[in-house]
Amino acid sequence: MKHKPKSFRMDNLNKSIEKHYLKEGLYEDIVSRLKEQGTDLHKVKRSDISGADEFHVRGAVVSKELAKSVNLYEASVLDVGCGLGGPCRMLADDYNCQATGIDISHEYIRTAKELSKLVKLERKTTFIQGDATRLPFEDNSFDVIWTQHVQMNIPNKKKFYSEISRVLKAGGYFLYYDIFKKGKEEVDYPMPWASTSDLSFLFKEDEMDSFLTQLGLTKEQSTDQTQAGIEFFNALVAKMKEFGPPKMGLNVLMGETTKPKLMNLLAYLKSGGLELKSGVYKNETGVNIDLLKKGGLV
Ligand SMILES: C[S@@+](CC[C@H](N)C(=O)[O-])C[C@H]1O[C@@H](n2cnc3c(N)ncnc32)[C@H](O)[C@@H]1O
Repeated sequence: MKHKPKSFRMDNLNKSIEKHYLKEGLYEDIVSRLKEQGTDLHKVKRSDISGADEFHVRGAVVSKELAKSVNLYEASVLDVGCGLGGPCRMLADDYNCQATGIDISHEYIRTAKELSKLVKLERKTTFIQGDATRLPFEDNSFDVIWTQHVQMNIPNKKKFYSEISRVLKAGGYFLYYDIFKKGKEEVDYPMPWASTSDLSFLFKEDEMDSFLTQLGLTKEQSTDQTQAGIEFFNALVAKMKEFGPPKMGLNVLMGETTKPKLMNLLAYLKSGGLELKSGVYKNETGVNIDLLKKGGLV
Protein backbone atom coordinates (compact mmCIF):
# COMPACT_ATOMS: atom_id res chain seq x y z
CA MET A 1 0.00 0.00 0.00
CA LYS A 2 1.28 3.48 -0.91
CA HIS A 3 2.04 5.63 2.16
CA LYS A 4 0.47 9.07 2.40
CA PRO A 5 3.05 11.91 2.46
CA LYS A 6 3.96 13.27 5.92
CA SER A 7 2.46 16.72 5.20
CA PHE A 8 -0.88 15.07 4.29
CA ARG A 9 -0.87 13.04 7.53
CA MET A 10 -0.02 16.17 9.56
CA ASP A 11 -2.83 18.19 7.95
CA ASN A 12 -5.28 15.39 8.74
CA LEU A 13 -4.08 15.17 12.32
CA ASN A 14 -4.40 18.93 12.75
CA LYS A 15 -7.97 18.77 11.40
CA SER A 16 -8.83 16.00 13.87
CA ILE A 17 -7.30 17.97 16.74
CA GLU A 18 -9.23 21.06 15.75
CA LYS A 19 -12.41 18.95 15.66
CA HIS A 20 -11.64 17.51 19.09
CA TYR A 21 -11.53 21.01 20.61
CA LEU A 22 -14.32 22.49 18.48
CA LYS A 23 -17.25 24.08 20.22
CA GLU A 24 -19.09 26.28 17.77
CA GLY A 25 -20.35 29.62 18.96
CA LEU A 26 -17.91 29.57 21.87
CA TYR A 27 -17.60 33.34 22.20
CA GLU A 28 -21.38 33.79 21.98
CA ASP A 29 -21.84 31.11 24.66
CA ILE A 30 -19.40 32.90 26.99
CA VAL A 31 -21.22 36.20 26.43
CA SER A 32 -24.62 34.67 27.16
CA ARG A 33 -23.25 33.10 30.37
CA LEU A 34 -21.92 36.52 31.43
CA LYS A 35 -25.36 38.04 30.76
CA GLU A 36 -27.07 35.28 32.77
CA GLN A 37 -24.76 36.13 35.67
CA GLY A 38 -25.82 39.76 35.39
CA THR A 39 -22.38 41.01 34.26
CA ASP A 40 -22.44 44.38 32.52
CA LEU A 41 -20.86 43.65 29.11
CA HIS A 42 -19.19 47.09 29.09
CA LYS A 43 -17.38 46.27 32.32
CA VAL A 44 -16.18 42.70 31.87
CA LYS A 45 -13.01 41.94 33.85
CA ARG A 46 -10.46 39.24 33.12
CA SER A 47 -11.52 37.48 36.32
CA ASP A 48 -15.11 37.19 34.97
CA ILE A 49 -13.90 34.90 32.16
CA SER A 50 -10.81 33.26 33.65
CA GLY A 51 -12.72 30.10 34.62
CA ALA A 52 -13.08 29.34 30.91
CA ASP A 53 -10.18 31.02 29.11
CA GLU A 54 -7.33 29.15 30.83
CA PHE A 55 -7.57 25.55 29.60
CA HIS A 56 -5.15 23.74 31.91
CA VAL A 57 -5.12 22.23 35.39
CA ARG A 58 -5.37 24.98 38.06
CA GLY A 59 -6.30 27.65 35.49
CA ALA A 60 -5.42 31.28 36.13
CA VAL A 61 -3.71 30.57 39.47
CA VAL A 62 -0.91 28.50 37.96
CA SER A 63 -0.35 30.98 35.10
CA LYS A 64 0.23 33.73 37.66
CA GLU A 65 2.75 31.51 39.45
CA LEU A 66 4.55 30.66 36.22
CA ALA A 67 4.75 34.33 35.27
CA LYS A 68 6.68 35.02 38.47
CA SER A 69 9.51 32.65 37.49
CA VAL A 70 11.32 35.22 35.33
CA ASN A 71 11.25 38.97 34.77
CA LEU A 72 8.48 39.36 32.21
CA TYR A 73 7.93 43.07 32.50
CA GLU A 74 7.35 44.57 29.00
CA ALA A 75 8.63 41.40 27.34
CA SER A 76 7.49 40.24 23.92
CA VAL A 77 5.87 36.87 24.61
CA LEU A 78 4.66 34.09 22.33
CA ASP A 79 2.12 31.63 23.79
CA VAL A 80 2.36 28.47 21.68
CA GLY A 81 -1.05 26.73 21.59
CA CYS A 82 -2.68 29.70 23.28
CA GLY A 83 -6.27 28.38 23.29
CA LEU A 84 -8.69 31.18 24.21
CA GLY A 85 -5.85 33.50 25.17
CA GLY A 86 -6.38 33.96 28.91
CA PRO A 87 -2.65 33.74 29.74
CA CYS A 88 -1.80 36.24 26.96
CA ARG A 89 -4.29 38.73 28.44
CA MET A 90 -2.87 38.24 31.94
CA LEU A 91 0.69 38.87 30.66
CA ALA A 92 -0.44 41.94 28.71
CA ASP A 93 -2.41 43.37 31.61
CA ASP A 94 -0.23 42.53 34.63
CA TYR A 95 3.24 42.80 33.01
CA ASN A 96 2.64 45.17 30.12
CA CYS A 97 3.83 42.45 27.74
CA GLN A 98 3.17 42.53 24.03
CA ALA A 99 1.59 39.07 23.91
CA THR A 100 1.09 36.95 20.80
CA GLY A 101 -0.81 33.68 20.82
CA ILE A 102 -0.86 31.04 18.11
CA ASP A 103 -3.27 28.11 17.98
CA ILE A 104 -4.38 25.53 15.43
CA SER A 105 -8.07 26.10 16.23
CA HIS A 106 -9.85 28.75 14.14
CA GLU A 107 -12.71 28.90 16.66
CA TYR A 108 -10.36 29.37 19.62
CA ILE A 109 -8.49 32.14 17.80
CA ARG A 110 -11.75 33.88 16.86
CA THR A 111 -12.89 33.63 20.48
CA ALA A 112 -9.50 34.80 21.80
CA LYS A 113 -9.68 37.95 19.65
CA GLU A 114 -13.27 38.71 20.70
CA LEU A 115 -12.49 38.13 24.39
CA SER A 116 -9.55 40.54 24.18
CA LYS A 117 -11.89 43.18 22.74
CA LEU A 118 -14.40 42.45 25.50
CA VAL A 119 -11.84 43.17 28.25
CA LYS A 120 -10.21 45.99 26.24
CA LEU A 121 -6.85 44.30 25.74
CA GLU A 122 -7.00 43.95 21.95
CA ARG A 123 -4.14 46.44 21.41
CA LYS A 124 -1.73 44.46 23.58
CA THR A 125 -2.64 40.97 22.37
CA THR A 126 -2.38 39.40 18.92
CA PHE A 127 -3.84 36.03 18.01
CA ILE A 128 -2.88 34.03 14.94
CA GLN A 129 -4.25 30.75 13.64
CA GLY A 130 -1.37 28.41 12.85
CA ASP A 131 0.60 25.27 13.57
CA ALA A 132 3.08 25.19 16.45
CA THR A 133 5.46 23.10 14.34
CA ARG A 134 5.55 25.73 11.57
CA LEU A 135 5.74 29.03 13.45
CA PRO A 136 5.19 31.98 11.06
CA PHE A 137 7.83 34.16 12.76
CA GLU A 138 11.39 35.24 12.00
CA ASP A 139 14.32 33.69 13.90
CA ASN A 140 15.00 35.37 17.29
CA SER A 141 11.64 37.17 17.50
CA PHE A 142 10.50 36.85 21.15
CA ASP A 143 11.93 37.50 24.62
CA VAL A 144 9.83 34.71 26.13
CA ILE A 145 8.09 31.64 24.77
CA TRP A 146 5.28 30.24 26.90
CA THR A 147 3.38 26.96 26.48
CA GLN A 148 0.82 25.16 28.64
CA HIS A 149 -0.74 21.74 28.00
CA VAL A 150 -0.13 21.67 24.22
CA GLN A 151 2.70 19.28 23.33
CA MET A 152 0.52 16.23 24.17
CA ASN A 153 -1.23 16.83 20.81
CA ILE A 154 2.01 17.04 18.84
CA PRO A 155 3.80 13.94 17.51
CA ASN A 156 6.85 15.74 16.14
CA LYS A 157 8.37 16.92 19.44
CA LYS A 158 11.72 17.68 17.81
CA LYS A 159 10.08 20.12 15.43
CA PHE A 160 7.91 21.62 18.20
CA TYR A 161 10.89 22.43 20.44
CA SER A 162 13.23 23.43 17.63
CA GLU A 163 10.66 25.94 16.36
CA ILE A 164 10.39 27.33 19.89
CA SER A 165 14.16 27.68 20.18
CA ARG A 166 14.42 29.21 16.69
CA VAL A 167 12.04 32.09 17.45
CA LEU A 168 13.42 32.68 20.97
CA LYS A 169 15.92 35.54 21.30
CA ALA A 170 19.38 35.08 22.81
CA GLY A 171 19.05 35.65 26.55
CA GLY A 172 15.34 34.77 26.36
CA TYR A 173 13.34 32.26 28.39
CA PHE A 174 11.18 29.27 27.57
CA LEU A 175 8.44 28.66 30.16
CA TYR A 176 6.34 25.48 30.16
CA TYR A 177 3.57 23.90 32.20
CA ASP A 178 2.74 20.46 30.93
CA ILE A 179 1.40 16.98 31.36
CA PHE A 180 4.04 14.28 30.97
CA LYS A 181 4.05 10.53 30.97
CA LYS A 182 5.62 9.15 34.13
CA GLY A 183 4.97 5.44 34.39
CA LYS A 184 5.25 2.74 31.75
CA GLU A 185 1.52 2.03 31.48
CA GLU A 186 -0.53 3.34 28.57
CA VAL A 187 -3.30 5.69 29.64
CA ASP A 188 -6.99 5.30 28.85
CA TYR A 189 -9.04 7.94 27.06
CA PRO A 190 -10.92 10.30 26.92
CA MET A 191 -8.56 12.95 28.29
CA PRO A 192 -9.12 16.72 28.05
CA TRP A 193 -6.64 16.96 25.13
CA ALA A 194 -7.71 13.81 23.28
CA SER A 195 -10.93 11.79 23.15
CA THR A 196 -9.01 8.86 21.67
CA SER A 197 -5.40 7.67 21.76
CA ASP A 198 -4.68 8.63 18.11
CA LEU A 199 -4.69 12.34 19.08
CA SER A 200 -2.33 11.90 22.02
CA PHE A 201 1.47 11.81 21.96
CA LEU A 202 2.60 11.68 25.56
CA PHE A 203 6.28 11.63 26.40
CA LYS A 204 8.47 12.10 29.47
CA GLU A 205 9.86 15.30 30.86
CA ASP A 206 13.45 14.04 30.60
CA GLU A 207 12.89 13.43 26.87
CA MET A 208 11.87 17.09 26.53
CA ASP A 209 14.94 18.05 28.54
CA SER A 210 17.13 16.11 26.16
CA PHE A 211 15.64 17.89 23.09
CA LEU A 212 16.02 21.32 24.70
CA THR A 213 19.57 20.66 25.86
CA GLN A 214 20.55 19.52 22.37
CA LEU A 215 19.05 22.74 21.05
CA GLY A 216 21.36 24.73 23.33
CA LEU A 217 18.87 25.75 26.03
CA THR A 218 19.81 25.56 29.72
CA LYS A 219 17.47 24.28 32.41
CA GLU A 220 16.91 26.85 35.17
CA GLN A 221 14.08 25.19 37.11
CA SER A 222 11.61 22.33 37.10
CA THR A 223 8.71 22.11 39.56
CA ASP A 224 6.50 19.13 40.25
CA GLN A 225 2.91 20.41 40.10
CA THR A 226 1.24 16.99 40.38
CA GLN A 227 0.14 17.20 44.01
CA ALA A 228 -1.18 20.74 43.54
CA GLY A 229 -3.14 19.47 40.52
CA ILE A 230 -4.63 16.57 42.49
CA GLU A 231 -5.69 18.91 45.30
CA PHE A 232 -7.25 21.29 42.78
CA PHE A 233 -9.28 18.46 41.22
CA ASN A 234 -10.38 17.11 44.61
CA ALA A 235 -11.67 20.56 45.59
CA LEU A 236 -13.37 20.97 42.20
CA VAL A 237 -15.13 17.61 42.47
CA ALA A 238 -16.39 18.46 45.99
CA LYS A 239 -17.63 21.85 44.78
CA MET A 240 -19.38 20.35 41.76
CA LYS A 241 -21.11 17.76 43.98
CA GLU A 242 -22.55 20.56 46.06
CA PHE A 243 -23.27 23.25 43.48
CA GLY A 244 -23.22 21.48 40.08
CA PRO A 245 -21.10 22.64 37.12
CA PRO A 246 -19.89 26.26 37.33
CA LYS A 247 -21.32 28.89 34.99
CA MET A 248 -17.82 29.81 33.80
CA GLY A 249 -15.60 26.75 34.05
CA LEU A 250 -13.83 24.31 31.75
CA ASN A 251 -17.26 22.76 31.13
CA VAL A 252 -17.85 25.71 28.79
CA LEU A 253 -15.17 24.14 26.56
CA MET A 254 -15.75 20.43 27.14
CA GLY A 255 -19.53 20.29 27.72
CA GLU A 256 -20.89 16.94 28.86
CA THR A 257 -17.52 15.24 28.43
CA THR A 258 -15.94 17.42 31.15
CA LYS A 259 -16.46 14.98 34.01
CA PRO A 260 -15.16 11.76 32.38
CA LYS A 261 -12.14 13.63 30.95
CA LEU A 262 -11.17 15.34 34.20
CA MET A 263 -11.80 12.25 36.35
CA ASN A 264 -9.64 10.17 34.03
CA LEU A 265 -6.79 12.69 34.19
CA LEU A 266 -7.11 12.82 37.98
CA ALA A 267 -6.94 9.01 38.19
CA TYR A 268 -3.63 8.91 36.26
CA LEU A 269 -2.14 11.77 38.25
CA LYS A 270 -2.98 9.85 41.40
CA SER A 271 -1.70 6.49 40.11
CA GLY A 272 1.61 8.01 38.98
CA GLY A 273 0.99 7.24 35.29
CA LEU A 274 1.10 10.96 34.49
CA GLU A 275 2.69 14.00 36.10
CA LEU A 276 2.28 17.75 35.91
CA LYS A 277 5.46 19.77 35.63
CA SER A 278 6.36 23.37 35.04
CA GLY A 279 9.73 24.96 34.46
CA VAL A 280 12.07 27.43 32.86
CA TYR A 281 14.87 27.15 30.26
CA LYS A 282 17.18 29.93 29.22
CA ASN A 283 18.57 30.53 25.76
CA GLU A 284 21.94 31.72 27.10
CA THR A 285 23.88 32.32 23.94
CA GLY A 286 21.28 32.17 21.23
CA VAL A 287 20.49 29.11 19.23
CA ASN A 288 22.76 28.43 16.28
CA ILE A 289 20.15 28.63 13.52
CA ASP A 290 22.63 27.46 10.86
CA LEU A 291 23.27 24.29 12.86
CA LEU A 292 19.52 23.72 13.28
CA LYS A 293 19.06 24.12 9.54
CA LYS A 294 21.98 21.82 8.79
CA GLY A 295 20.50 19.18 11.10
CA GLY A 296 17.15 19.49 9.31
CA LEU A 297 15.52 20.76 12.51
CA VAL A 298 14.02 23.90 11.04
C1 LIG B 1 -5.52 21.99 26.46
S1 LIG B 1 -5.55 23.31 25.36
C2 LIG B 1 -4.50 24.51 26.18
C3 LIG B 1 -4.75 25.92 25.69
C4 LIG B 1 -3.90 27.00 26.36
N1 LIG B 1 -2.50 26.71 26.28
C5 LIG B 1 -4.29 27.18 27.81
O1 LIG B 1 -3.58 26.64 28.66
O2 LIG B 1 -5.31 27.82 28.07
C6 LIG B 1 -4.46 22.74 24.05
C7 LIG B 1 -4.38 23.71 22.89
O3 LIG B 1 -3.36 23.31 21.99
C8 LIG B 1 -3.79 23.63 20.68
N2 LIG B 1 -2.99 22.84 19.71
C9 LIG B 1 -2.93 21.50 19.59
N3 LIG B 1 -2.09 21.16 18.59
C10 LIG B 1 -1.61 22.32 18.08
C11 LIG B 1 -0.68 22.63 17.03
N4 LIG B 1 -0.11 21.69 16.28
N5 LIG B 1 -0.42 23.92 16.80
C12 LIG B 1 -1.01 24.91 17.53
N6 LIG B 1 -1.89 24.67 18.52
C13 LIG B 1 -2.18 23.39 18.80
C14 LIG B 1 -5.26 23.28 20.72
O4 LIG B 1 -5.99 23.84 19.65
C15 LIG B 1 -5.67 23.81 22.09
O5 LIG B 1 -6.06 25.14 22.02
